[in-house]
Amino acid sequence: MAAENLPIVRTVAALRAQVEAWRDSGLKVAFAPTMGALHEGHLSLIRLGLDRADRVVASIFVNPTQFGPNEDFDRYPRNEAGDSALLAGAGCHLLFAPSVQEMYPHGFATTITVTGVSEPLDGAARPGHFNGVATVVTKLLNQARPDIAIFGEKDYQQLQVIRRLVRDLDLPVEVVGAPIARAEDGLALSSRNAYLDSAQRQIAGQMNKALADAVARLAAGESVERVEATGRAALERHGFETVDYFEVRLVEDLSHPGPGPCSAPARVFAAAHLGRTRLIDNMGA
Ligand code: PAF
Repeated sequence: MAAENLPIVRTVAALRAQVEAWRDSGLKVAFAPTMGALHEGHLSLIRLGLDRADRVVASIFVNPTQFGPNEDFDRYPRNEAGDSALLAGAGCHLLFAPSVQEMYPHGFATTITVTGVSEPLDGAARPGHFNGVATVVTKLLNQARPDIAIFGEKDYQQLQVIRRLVRDLDLPVEVVGAPIARAEDGLALSSRNAYLDSAQRQIAGQMNKALADAVARLAAGESVERVEATGRAALERHGFETVDYFEVRLVEDLSHPGPGPCSAPARVFAAAHLGRTRLIDNMGA
């Protein structure tokens, strides 16, 4: 499909009408919510959608409620024309690009809070972040009403928060996680990588290596306590300025496995800053 042919809808009514029409005619619809500044990782969500469904809808909405007061909402990269060309090239069928007013009209007063799984890691480092994510994702899923919704595993905690809210609120949608897309040196693709200068970009690749090393150490039976301390020290040694966390968490509910060796299914999570840029990544152990 040529880029200029990607239909864009900006209202909930137009989005619903199109998705309903597809579903009424027996077509399966996949939905990939994004905040734009698209890269290969986002396009892999579209391709996964095309594998699983007949029609793929993407949304671009830089959601103000998931950014803290000192975070990068204002400077978050926005390029709708470039993004819609990429989406069209990947085979996406429809883009939903609502305004802030469409999403949060005057008088909006509801917040979705998911307890438990949203509390550690980014929940602790970015207070209020997952309330913003849970609220906007609940709205987006209810607006689009797709058969399946696809989210990247780079934001693994976000994925678990969304799985929890979909179960708890009985939302009729299948949530699908997409594997992390990585650059050649292993850096997880992220819209925020665009903020990095070349020296920071060199350092950034070390986060993936520290996670891979942690996964190997856990597999060899090293204690969680040691693995976490070694990973944090590696990030600091390589030049990450503030390490928010380098932690092992159980996959099921993101609880901490305790200090000793860990044999239950787990993942290692890292978040650290390079200048004004905060990077996160995770890896299955
Ligand atoms: O992962 C993102 O891009 C956002 O958190 C999401 C899921 C689109 C909600 O704003």
